[in-house]
Amino acid sequence: MKILAINGSHRKGKNTALMLRTVLEEAAALGAATELLELTDFNIKPCRACNKCLRQPRCAIEDDDMAAIGEKMLAADGIVLGSPVYWANVTGLMKDFMDRTRWMHMTQNMLAGKVGAAVTHAGLRNGGQELALAIMEHFLRAQGLLVVDDRAPDGPIYTAGAMGTMFGDLSGGTVTWKKSVAEDELALHSCRQLARNMVALIRRLRASHHRLG
Ligand SMILES: Cc1cc2nc3c(=O)[nH]c(=O)nc-3n(C[C@H](O)[C@H](O)[C@H](O)COP(=O)(O)O)c2cc1C
Repeated sequence: MKILAINGSHRKGKNTALMLRTVLEEAAALGAATELLELTDFNIKPCRACNKCLRQPRCAIEDDDMAAIGEKMLAADGIVLGSPVYWANVTGLMKDFMDRTRWMHMTQNMLAGKVGAAVTHAGLRNGGQELALAIMEHFLRAQGLLVVDDRAPDGPIYTAGAMGTMFGDLSGGTVTWKKSVAEDELALHSCRQLARNMVALIRRLRASHHRLG
């Protein structure tokens, strides 16, 4: 079982990366092979809207790294996207990445039946996390993935998605801030549950494929 994480943060190795690594560590503990792609490491050109992908299952832009990223997506059983909130939205990098995967969707949903999930991190407590998460989850569903959330089947905690914040508390009239998502146990708990839900669904899908022959 392969789970691929894709980080759209413009900052490598920071909060969003830590959330994704937390998902992958839990998935690895459950037996998955994992990989984290930092989109900042790749050359990703914006979609030219040439619309050639309406007729052919490949992108007309071939002189950047998107084909290699697409191969990794096609080889994965599960894909978890991560983006910090930029203006109550995903980052420009994540959006360019999404646009450039259109060829996997237009002639047929080539990612259909894989399991998807998303995580996000923002400065504020209500900084647009739900919107950013909804944008990534909509993308995954449109691409045919089955999207899991962080609901625990037998536990009381459901945070409506893996969302972190730098906001700490209000203490004596002064706002305090976390130093990083490493101090946000609720967010990390969500990430671990997301991983458990991804692995469980991938296993269920595999078992039903075997049963159906
Ligand atoms: C261009 C830009 C726009 C941002 N917009 C928001 C926002 O709308 N709401 C918010 O709460 N934080 C916003 N932030 C803060 C980031 O979401 C926050 O710093 C996050 O932790 C960054 O994630 P990273 O550590 O993975 O880079 C913005 C940051 C940048 C650089």
